[in-house]
Amino acid sequence: MATVLVTRRLPAGALDPLAAHIVRTWDDDSPHSHPELVQAVADVDGIVCVLSDRIDAEVIAAAPRLRVIGNVAVGLDNIDTDAARGAGVQVINTPGALDETTADLAFALILTASRRCADAERDLRAGNWRGWGLLDYLGRDVYGATLGLVGYGQIARAVARRAGGFDMTVLHWSHRDTGEPGFVKSLDDLLVRSDIVSLHVPLTDSTRHLIGARELALLRPDSVLVNTARGAIVDEAALADALERGQIFAAGIDVYSDEPRVSAALLRAPFAVLLPHIGSATLATRRRIALMATSGVAAALAGA
Ligand code: GLV
Repeated sequence: MATVLVTRRLPAGALDPLAAHIVRTWDDDSPHSHPELVQAVADVDGIVCVLSDRIDAEVIAAAPRLRVIGNVAVGLDNIDTDAARGAGVQVINTPGALDETTADLAFALILTASRRCADAERDLRAGNWRGWGLLDYLGRDVYGATLGLVGYGQIARAVARRAGGFDMTVLHWSHRDTGEPGFVKSLDDLLVRSDIVSLHVPLTDSTRHLIGARELALLRPDSVLVNTARGAIVDEAALADALERGQIFAAGIDVYSDEPRVSAALLRAPFAVLLPHIGSATLATRRRIALMATSGVAAALAGA
């Protein structure tokens, strides 16, 4: 019987695969501090964690019995995978289980930011709707626009399928030539040619601040930037500045570089739709990814 630390409350039934083990949880469902995490892993064989838990070399070193980490997320940027490999710890994530759900949210942000739905709703609720106006809440068309996908993994492809229904021209860029229709060799070229840009690369050393002031300057004044990947892929100060100066039209953002902190500049920026990292947040998908992580941890502990 092994001991598994589960850092957050999981959807009903998701702990079932760990029934043969001692499952240790915290009473409350709030994120715990890094020192608390370091302290809690001293005698565990497995960890089931979420993307806001930083499982770095210090946590791994503090867990001499650790054999497996199950991250209830597809991104692995919160885990020091090199340190895990060095310590012989297996790392499990949830590829393929949240693609369609996250693509839905990316598309929701494409529509909401392009059509200024958030501004308009805010005004209505605040009692500031003066009546129908020919020149009010003018957005940009999504139908027929050119969509530039940065990265072309499963989530980007799922967004591309949705774009077909809106008669969009879909371009994509990735580090490796996909050889597929719509591939654009240079990121700069993709940014220049796109009306709407949606980010779908993992956060790595080579994608940190991939979209900075220089890249934003390549976008058109009527363009929209959507980020459902990881906050640090975008230089948030440069994005806030681009929105402030009208260098781009709007942004739809679900992820931030220092979650749950959102920079004051971004909160102030006009035409920014800001969501609290809910890309995978449907009942079915959260249940699926939690089960995928706990089953993976159980299989690793069983030596499978
Ligand atoms: C969500 O952001 C994930 O990486 O699963």
